[in-house]
Amino acid sequence: MNDLLKAMSARRSVRTYADRDVSDADLDAILKAGRLGPSGKGIKPYDFIVIRDPQTIQKLVGCRKGGAKMLTTAKAAIAVLGDEDRSDTWIEDDAVAMTQMHLMASYLGLGSCWLQIRLRPSDTEGKSAEDFARDVLGFPKNNRLEAILALGPIDEAPEPHDPDALDDGVIHQEKW
Ligand SMILES: Cc1cc2nc3c(=O)[nH]c(=O)nc-3n(C[C@H](O)[C@H](O)[C@H](O)COP(=O)(O)O)c2cc1C
Repeated sequence: MNDLLKAMSARRSVRTYADRDVSDADLDAILKAGRLGPSGKGIKPYDFIVIRDPQTIQKLVGCRKGGAKMLTTAKAAIAVLGDEDRSDTWIEDDAVAMTQMHLMASYLGLGSCWLQIRLRPSDTEGKSAEDFARDVLGFPKNNRLEAILALGPIDEAPEPHDPDALDDGVIHQEKW
């Protein structure tokens, strides 16, 4: 197995974190990874809000109906926004950025999990997850919140995926 496939197989969603800080150097590498991916027309219409204040992270727990449980122990969170006025591929561009950051976090031995915000309701009746987070984080209307990456140290790496166990039935040769 090549090194990249090995790193990709080891990436798992982790939803509880140890009580230690995430270093500045790790956050910097994660944020670089998020901006190194492809984006539609190379526009990179995203912005990132790095949240390390425990009080702000705890406020964001209510951004998802039922509570965003992984944020209760997260030591950092990165909100990934896309400017819908700048690009019609902001959703895809944000998803690429999220994926790259999630993979880098795993490579660095950190736990992380994608928290979906777009199209999801918050814990507050009648309020979307996005508007809930907008009230907490103060971002403008045209900057849409795709997702939040919850982050934190872990004591034990989760079981990696087995690339040889993937469903090859989804791969079609030449035609459907
Ligand atoms: C678009 C997308 C949305 C997701 N939303 C959530 C979420 O809101 N909450 C959560 O706990 N996990 C979320 N996940 C993580 C998935 O549940 C997880 O990737 C999946 O169960 C496979 O597990 P793995 O990441 O360990 O391979 C999301 C992942 C993606 C790609």
